[in-house]
Amino acid sequence: MHIDIISLIPELIESPLNHSILKRAQDKNLLSVRLVSLRDYGYGNYKQVDDYAFGGGAGMVLMCEPIAKCIRDLQSEREYDEVIYLTPDGDRLNQPLLNQMSMSKNLLMLCGHYKGIDQRIRDMFITREISIGDYVLSGGELGAAVLVDALGRLIPGVLSDETSALTDSFQDNLLAPPVYTRPRNFEGMEVPEVLLSGNTKKIEAWRYDQALKVTEKRRPDLLK
Ligand code: ADE
Repeated sequence: MHIDIISLIPELIESPLNHSILKRAQDKNLLSVRLVSLRDYGYGNYKQVDDYAFGGGAGMVLMCEPIAKCIRDLQSEREYDEVIYLTPDGDRLNQPLLNQMSMSKNLLMLCGHYKGIDQRIRDMFITREISIGDYVLSGGELGAAVLVDALGRLIPGVLSDETSALTDSFQDNLLAPPVYTRPRNFEGMEVPEVLLSGNTKKIEAWRYDQALKVTEKRRPDLLK
């Protein structure tokens, strides 16, 4: 999968890309990510990218032309499955949406700032608008990082154990069951006996039962 990310502050996204699973995915050539600076497409000596909102009100709006030019440059290099705008008023990100997007070959992500981007860019170029939750971030960068991380681990071959993304929370609409490691007794608290039994069938049944219980308690909405 290839992902291009347009941003005013690409540095905000760098660190998550350069560690752990996302780094491994890129090292294995299963994922490539390019950060594109919107500032490079700005106007004049100050590389201006934003302006006051027509009609007044507080906050600046990212202008059409720098974004349009940047997107068109990138589109001349490759065809994107989706052009995604990270915004608090987008579709709320969830696992089914991620599973669907993980089939993509090329994705373009656009990070907003200030009061957002000119509506005409949304109308003209954006194929999907995504929010990572009902709260407002200072820009789309952290949202893009979340999106890349959650997508990266779904690419076949990225996780060493192929089944491990399938047993994540939210796959099958269930939260994950509790997990334990050594020691067997921590300050008087024992690991559940069944996990030490070596009986795979029993362990699986226990985990499923626990997953149901956790989901019923914390996220009953997922079971509907
Ligand atoms: N930009 C600002 N807030 C956001 C959010 N909640 N999700 C995605 N992008 C955003």
